Amino acid sequence: MSTHHPAAVVVLAAGEGTRMKSATPKVLHPIGGRSLLGHALRAARGCRPEHLAVVVRHERERVAAHVAECDPRALLADQDETKGTGRAVECGLAVLPPDLSGTILVTYGDVPLLSAATLQALTRAHEEAGNAVTVVTAELADPGGYGRILRDEAGEVAGIIEHKDALAAREAGGPLAHALDITEINSGIYAFDAAVLRDCLARVSTDNAQGEKYLTDVLGLAREAGGSVRAHVVADLWQTEGVNDRVQLARMGAELNRRTVEYWMREGVTVIDPATTWIDADVTLGRDTVIRPQTQLLGACSVGADVVIGPDTTLTSVQVGDGAQVVRTHGEDAVVAAGATVGPFAYLRPGTRLGEGGKIGTFVETKNADIGPGAKVPHLSYVGDATIGEGSNIGASSVFVNYDGVAKHHTTVGRHCRMGSDTMYVAPVTIGDGAGSGAGTVIRTDVPPGAMAITVARQRNIEGWAQARRAGTPQARAAEEALGRGDQEEQA
Ligand code: UD1
Ligand code: CA
Repeated sequence: MSTHHPAAVVVLAAGEGTRMKSATPKVLHPIGGRSLLGHALRAARGCRPEHLAVVVRHERERVAAHVAECDPRALLADQDETKGTGRAVECGLAVLPPDLSGTILVTYGDVPLLSAATLQALTRAHEEAGNAVTVVTAELADPGGYGRILRDEAGEVAGIIEHKDALAAREAGGPLAHALDITEINSGIYAFDAAVLRDCLARVSTDNAQGEKYLTDVLGLAREAGGSVRAHVVADLWQTEGVNDRVQLARMGAELNRRTVEYWMREGVTVIDPATTWIDADVTLGRDTVIRPQTQLLGACSVGADVVIGPDTTLTSVQVGDGAQVVRTHGEDAVVAAGATVGPFAYLRPGTRLGEGGKIGTFVETKNADIGPGAKVPHLSYVGDATIGEGSNIGASSVFVNYDGVAKHHTTVGRHCRMGSDTMYVAPVTIGDGAGSGAGTVIRTDVPPGAMAITVARQRNIEGWAQARRAGTPQARAAEEALGRGDQEEQA
């Protein structure tokens, strides 16, 4: 199979996107953990063009910075005052070599589900047919708003008429009066012969309903010049759908998620409830992993094989090793090694690293915490800025007191320590290997290996306190009853 790689892809991202009603440029809004533009750049780069140019104008600096982040090799082209997709492409061409030949693809920064495979198929169809222009079209039940594909008696593509111009044509009457009824639409994605594109764009005017330089006018001009103009009809309508407002953003986001979840199920992941499972585009999962309902795997999560995640779990850029279990947990920028268990009700904050077979249990919060292999923090604890050695156990209700009100300090607990419940680790402090602490210990100074740290004073009981100080209360009565019953028991 011969490979067809375009000479260039020009991604249009200069438009305002006013219908988003947002302080954030439209193309920077994310779905599936990636910006709309990020999706478009992935697809564009995926068909392996020689050059990739992105046309920017609205919020130029923010969009340009984002492009540099997503695809550092992409060229930036600035669109000037002249409006329209035709002008945008002309500006894109200006950053490409002036004598570039071959195929130039045009795509939009706000069409997120278009795949690299579709762009490859377009390039191939265009080059094999020797077309001057190949336009990606789709049949829509409701074509409102889109440019309509005009075909001649022979069924060949004759040109494109914009919705607004079709509206005007209906009022004016004449040969294009029925253009509005055409259901084949222009997706806005094309393959052009580079020379044809350059020549025709130079001749496109702004004489239309919107006073813009239309890229669509290139089709008619290319045909007049004797080139063949054909359509590449795409059946998967999602691939050509753009985002104009937040309703479409959610719709496209849900469809992307549906596709991602389905992909992972086909790869051997059990998803109990696809409808409530959200998996970002950059997440990876291993075989026989089970995702329970209401789980979100976001950012760059990488999950191994035979893992159980959920229910009710949100992980952002968390690495989970083979055979681990993460139940009712909220986690971010953390590592959970193979065979470890987390939750239910755990909060893993950035910098948490749980070793193989370790445990972060119920109502436990961790941050910058390196918890060694087989080490356990089972209940009701906060572990911040700490290293806990292999096989150590942190008793229930313990706090790593890492903040003195000014600065954060580190605590180190050695290997195989047996730390008592309700121990406060007042950092900075180091506990030696095999050490321990009694319940309620406040550790302020280092504990040597093997030592048992105890800070609580000996217990003192003030007999009869409740009866004397709380006379007449349920507390005092309960005490009297208990003591009375004690007397009776002694007599019996
Ligand atoms: C365009 C097509 C229309 C097609 C539709 C598909 C033209 C004249 N019309 O219409 O036939 O059915 O797309 O969605 O091409 N852009 C720029 N600079 C500009 C104008 C637009 O970069 O000056 C970018 C936008 O950011 C966007 C894309 O081009 O990504 C399309 O712009 P938009 O205004 O949505 O085009 P439509 O008028 O909808
Ligand atoms: Ca649009």
